[in-house]
Amino acid sequence: MALPDSLPLVPHPADVRREEGVIPLASARISGDAGVAGLLRDALVARTGVRSQVVGEGTDAEIVLSVDPAAGAAEAYVLDALGDAIRITGADAAGLFYGTRTLLQLLHDSDAGWAVPRVRIEDAPRFAYRGVMLDVARHFFGVDAVKAYIDRAVDLKFNHLHLHLTDDQGWRLEIDSWPLLTERASGSDTTGGAGGFFTKDQYREILAYASERHVTVVPEIDLPGHTHAVGIAYPDLVEEPWLSEQSIAEQAALGSPLPVHGEYYRGAAVGHSSVRIHEERTYDFITDVLREVAEITPGPYLHIGGDECLGTPAADFALFFERVSRIAADTGKTPVAWHEAGAVTGIAEGTIGQYWGSVEPKGSHAEEAEHFVERGGALIMSPSDRAYLDMKPTPDFPLGLVWAGIVPVRAAYEWEPTAVVPGLADDAILGVEAPLWTETVTTIAAADTLVFPRIAAHAETAWSPKDGAERTWDSFRARVAGLAPAWEASGIEFTRSEEIAWA
Ligand code: ACM
Repeated sequence: MALPDSLPLVPHPADVRREEGVIPLASARISGDAGVAGLLRDALVARTGVRSQVVGEGTDAEIVLSVDPAAGAAEAYVLDALGDAIRITGADAAGLFYGTRTLLQLLHDSDAGWAVPRVRIEDAPRFAYRGVMLDVARHFFGVDAVKAYIDRAVDLKFNHLHLHLTDDQGWRLEIDSWPLLTERASGSDTTGGAGGFFTKDQYREILAYASERHVTVVPEIDLPGHTHAVGIAYPDLVEEPWLSEQSIAEQAALGSPLPVHGEYYRGAAVGHSSVRIHEERTYDFITDVLREVAEITPGPYLHIGGDECLGTPAADFALFFERVSRIAADTGKTPVAWHEAGAVTGIAEGTIGQYWGSVEPKGSHAEEAEHFVERGGALIMSPSDRAYLDMKPTPDFPLGLVWAGIVPVRAAYEWEPTAVVPGLADDAILGVEAPLWTETVTTIAAADTLVFPRIAAHAETAWSPKDGAERTWDSFRARVAGLAPAWEASGIEFTRSEEIAWA
């Protein structure tokens, strides 16, 4: 099968020069960085059955991998398949890895067998932060599922995995100094499941797997709200559930049970819990937890939540978040917080805000987001009506939620991260993240149906140059269709959205 004119590359590279013909790949020796070469060998055999072999640097090879800072900025690479060999040169190890992900998308089953088109690609990411988030609190996903999610993400050149580790429904990471968190508060979820948690060793196993694939893990301990589960382990740390007439009505509408202090909460309502802001023991607890999480996390970020504290007076929220953002910064990490925390005048300098309002900001959301930038931080853009992967793609979709709207593939594709919050310099935007909340998702196969193909749209928003000729909906819907054979081969249960021109 010949390749279409638009090569099936997502995210589209910065520059592609194509010539006539293909380079057949009946077998391949791969030389260069042993880690990247090994991952490429495994991916090649899984995708094509083509057996390849990692050989020493300097040995004759069909695929030559190397690192040369002259290849561009951080994470850049050049893929040259115009000569006899395929040469991928990364500006750094991450760039080299991304070059191999592009090579995998170029592979196709031609008249001459497995082959790649003759091309030269020069490529580099638009944004330094290209993230996906997995909520392991509403439904717990074990180590293998998280690894599978990382595999999906890296093929699209995402480089951050945000793990939402704690919420009202469960606490998912072992903390030595507060052991009841996992002993008592991890055994349930929103989906009727048995819950679960990561031991520190399991968490380290995820970190190592991510790191080999150039992914930084961003752990989130959501505070001061979304903490009902803490109260199952340590009732004295958490307030009685905040139940206003409005929240009681909301929970009735959701068919959610009302939360009971100290008992598992299996509903899906939000905003009813808070740790005790005026108790010193709360800060002892938070200092210990953030220190332990920071100690075992090599990445630079520590997400401390800050969203949906609906029953918390603004002054209490400010008192809490000013102090806790400093505790987080004192671990040596850069704090990250949902945009509501930008309401806090004295939030720790350099804190990164994660914007999850709508693509046209409502109320004070834009000002809250701006405040992170005024404090020397930056923004990760996750507008919920575009980037939330748990929103239904069509009204009748069996999984997902609708509170931020229906998000078709085209809506996921067509938004501009620098245009959401007006008046900011482009470099105030650190990048883009696509969160998956899991109130309705219990398996990776189910996640796939919600996530694919929209995740590819977010990958392109995060990576591809804004004004590239192929950075259009028509080009994207043709290119993304070309990824279907690789997704099928990987067992990805993607949704055949009617908007996409599947072959
Ligand atoms: C959020 O969706 N509550 C960040």
